[in-house]
Amino acid sequence: MQSGLRSKLETKLHVGIIMDGNGRWATRRGLSRLRGHEAGVEAIRRVVEAAPQQGIGTLTLFAFSSDNWRRPKAEVSALMALLLAYLTSEVRSLTDNGVRLSVIGRRDRLPNAIAAAIERAEAASADGAALHLRIAVDYSARDAIVSAAIRAGAMQACSRAAFADLVTGAQNLRDVDLVIRTSGERRLSDFLLWESAYAELYFTDRMWPDFDADDLAEAMRSFHGRERRFGGLQPAASELAIGF
Ligand code: IPE
Ligand code: IPE
Ligand code: MG
Repeated sequence: MQSGLRSKLETKLHVGIIMDGNGRWATRRGLSRLRGHEAGVEAIRRVVEAAPQQGIGTLTLFAFSSDNWRRPKAEVSALMALLLAYLTSEVRSLTDNGVRLSVIGRRDRLPNAIAAAIERAEAASADGAALHLRIAVDYSARDAIVSAAIRAGAMQACSRAAFADLVTGAQNLRDVDLVIRTSGERRLSDFLLWESAYAELYFTDRMWPDFDADDLAEAMRSFHGRERRFGGLQPAASELAIGF
């Protein structure tokens, strides 16, 4: 039953969000960066609630990159504390709303309490069929590809689809349809590089703590106005090409 529910979600869109700008949002208001991260959690709640109505089946949020360990110790600890609080306080409402939570990224460098909270939250929400929420923590797309390559090297043969499963740590995960990045930055910062091979990119100046359901709807409108070709031609041009 569970796999049936999951495959239904995979027919819906996969959106990835690089939630950027928490620090600038806070410092512009004379607040500590921590307050920006706290406000960012509120934005996560809004977006998770709005996503299913926007045709999104899978939502991958970049919460902490493997390069974010370079930040001051106090900020890293505050981010870890926020993550732990989110994982423990949110499980109930996620499961009530049919949200299946997964955490991607390395776990071996996370505090034990967080690794345990991740396991509990994933197990409790495993049957969620309204939205697959994936939170990227200690995540590096390049590291994910390298570790997949090492595992593939130990196999007799490995198809592209099998390699994709190794990279994503999931079976038949839908490619990313749309990457959204807030705060005016226009880069990928090592986020879902494999999965986003044909993703549409959407950049907004909105700081993540201000991002809301209307901003998500605006991003989706932009997405639906794009023409995706995947290397081919648009249908009308393909028909003309028959007489080529
Ligand atoms: C995004 O906001 C959250 C994380 C990277 C953890 P930032 O903390 O990067 O905010 P800015 O970019 O400094 O404004
Ligand atoms: C990317 O944001 C990581 C997350 C949003 C978690 P950063 O703020 O760390 O990225 P750079 O350093 O500006 O590229
Ligand atoms: Mg940033």
